[in-house]
Amino acid sequence: MPARMKLTNVNLLRLFEAPGAGDLGREFRSRLFPRKTLVYSPSDEADLVFIVKRGRLRVYLSYEDREFTLAFLEAGDIFSTHTRAFVQTVEDTELLVTGTAAFQQRVSEIPEVSQAMVKVLGDLLKNSLSTIEGLVFKDARLRLVEFLAAAAADRGRPAGGGIMVELGLKTEDIALLVGTTRQTISTIMNDLIKAGIIEKIDRRTICVRKLDELTAWKDSL
Ligand code: HEM
Repeated sequence: MPARMKLTNVNLLRLFEAPGAGDLGREFRSRLFPRKTLVYSPSDEADLVFIVKRGRLRVYLSYEDREFTLAFLEAGDIFSTHTRAFVQTVEDTELLVTGTAAFQQRVSEIPEVSQAMVKVLGDLLKNSLSTIEGLVFKDARLRLVEFLAAAAADRGRPAGGGIMVELGLKTEDIALLVGTTRQTISTIMNDLIKAGIIEKIDRRTICVRKLDELTAWKDSL
């Protein structure tokens, strides 16, 4: 895993307490929400920016019965309502809310804001990348495992406590068949080898050690 960039914890709330910050506070109004409240949804017309005063919220995408969490917001974090994400409270929460246009007027005067935005948006991006990766890999895994199980059923012959399968294809060809890259095929194959499910005999031959686990793996994806 690459080294994680640690951002200094910029707490925007401090700005509200700083001397001379009086008029900043006037532009934001406080709103209280009990836990588990859907605070904003993408269909809302309002274009707002908010700072979390206390509590915790979850930012997520929702499609039919599936949800993808993109970020958790905590005290001092900033977010907006003009995104495709839903925002729900996890705990009782207090937000300081203002219009995006009004906020934009003030942004240049408050350098800490951009740092706070980078922190939240970086978190959002990281989780979005993981979500994309998960979706892409999951698909490739499923197709590869299906391919291996079918090859074992068609061409496998019992040998040495397993099923010897001559794939007859190089990794590049399997990648084309499964619709992914050679690197992804290698990664998934290595996961299967590490789990003791398959064993690599040579470039074009594998031995399926645990066919039931291979099938179970497929069903669990
Ligand atoms: C200075 C005030 C701000 C202005 C003028 C502004 C403006 C915009 C505009 C014009 C878009 C594109 C909208 C579209 O494509 O329909 C956008 C998207 C976005 N903004 Fe802002 N924004 C502001 C503050 C913020 C803040 C504070 C955050 C969160 C920290 C934020 C997060 C986002 C995100 C995540 C998107 C992508 C939305 C999506 O495609 O789902 N914005 N913003």
